[in-house]
Amino acid sequence: MKKLMAANWKMYKNRAEAKATAEDLINRIAGKLPEDREVVIAAPYTALESVGAALAGQARCSLSAENLYPAEEGAYTGEISPAMLKDVGCTYALAGHSERRSIIGETSEFVGEKVAFGLKNGLAMILCIGETIEQRKAGEVQKVIDEQLEAGLKDVPADFAPESVVIAYEPVWAIGTGEVAGEDEIIEAHGFVRKKLKNIFPEKFNEMRILYGGSVKPGNCAQIIALDNVDGVLVGGASLDGESFSQIALA
Ligand code: 13P
Repeated sequence: MKKLMAANWKMYKNRAEAKATAEDLINRIAGKLPEDREVVIAAPYTALESVGAALAGQARCSLSAENLYPAEEGAYTGEISPAMLKDVGCTYALAGHSERRSIIGETSEFVGEKVAFGLKNGLAMILCIGETIEQRKAGEVQKVIDEQLEAGLKDVPADFAPESVVIAYEPVWAIGTGEVAGEDEIIEAHGFVRKKLKNIFPEKFNEMRILYGGSVKPGNCAQIIALDNVDGVLVGGASLDGESFSQIALA
């Protein structure tokens, strides 16, 4: 199973900035990325084409969208379909990032529709889950993970390839705060995710990747990816700079 080192650029970078960062990253990791590592960059829609051009031909480097709309085409003003994303070079998409759940109001059911539709239309999907600080304090971590996985994976097609369904555990309180989750917290949450995956996909759960996200930096990445059931990272702030993300990708 390849470790997946994923960048999420959120709503940062115009086309020129995105191109420069992606090229800088590629220069730094070219020829150095181990065989058992994969790099994914999730970029804003407007930057996908330029980032895709920078990644083209690079082994184990893929382009991702940060979102998709679960329909082939139609009257969905402002939305983007999986076919459009594939046309611009995406092979991955994120679904259910906590910012979309909390700011845009996406429900777990809608996130589940996106995951299923993206997979059926040939994209690998990174399903983001995670609890708020209030939920953690209330002892609801497992309840939240359970609910978000149940709804998010509800209609996954039976024949999916295990590497094409990725879970990103991102505790909301660790995102953009500099407060990385403790090792015990990560091990416990990822262990619970694996157990839940075993219930849902008894044949594939061990080949599915579980990423950690939330204040991952060059200085803490190696320790995090060495933990049980951590198969990579999803990185926000520290992925915006080529040098910083190259250190993470090669950690
Ligand atoms: P930070 O790495 O900035 O905490 O963001 C994490 C994240 O939201 C990745 O999707």
